[in-house]
Amino acid sequence: MIQTNMKAKTTFQQLVKSRRSIRRYLDKPIDREKILTCIEAARLAPSADNVQPWRFLIIDDPELKARFAREVFSGIYFITKFAAKAPVLIVILARLDIIANRIGKQIQNIHFYLIDIGIAGEHIVLQAEELGLGTCWVGWFNVRKARKFLKVPRKYKIVSLMALGHYEKKPSGKKSKKKLEEIAWFNKLG
Ligand SMILES: Cc1cc2nc3c(=O)[nH]c(=O)nc-3n(C[C@H](O)[C@H](O)[C@H](O)COP(=O)(O)O)c2cc1C
Repeated sequence: MIQTNMKAKTTFQQLVKSRRSIRRYLDKPIDREKILTCIEAARLAPSADNVQPWRFLIIDDPELKARFAREVFSGIYFITKFAAKAPVLIVILARLDIIANRIGKQIQNIHFYLIDIGIAGEHIVLQAEELGLGTCWVGWFNVRKARKFLKVPRKYKIVSLMALGHYEKKPSGKKSKKKLEEIAWFNKLG
């Protein structure tokens, strides 16, 4: 059984414990400096073979964002409309023309670029949390329409969107997370 009563409460532990996906945003713009601090955190993320496949298209122009949101959160994606209220939408792209990623896929059967993007995106999330800003990963949107609207060339894949903004309050209630002993074991799979 894994002990969970570790007493040391580090700043990082507080940060990850307080983070929640935010789906209600204040109508308040975010300083570009803060946005770029988040992107800087992503820039420094690790990546397989250090290929840094991530690219970020930041939409903070309210009119453009509204038009983009109308396109990508329509139809079966209406449930994600909350993200349109965030003052910033970050389009997270991956470069697909990276040879190391192709080799990785062929030999290891792993899309390393998706791992890389996940790490970089989560750096944004945690940096935003430290700055007192809220985020939500948004995977449920019309990728085809997003590509067309933003005129994204073939060499990029749109992997996700990230909503970023100020929030009034965090969602109440305890986080529903699996227990440590359900997900990790020492030396032998449980
Ligand atoms: C790759 C990814 C895609 C996600 N897509 C969406 C989404 O489209 N809409 C949404 O409301 N939340 C989305 N989320 C947020 C998850 O629902 C959320 O992380 C999960 O419910 C746990 O809640 P928490 O982030 O507050 O701990 C996504 C999260 C990840 C990591």
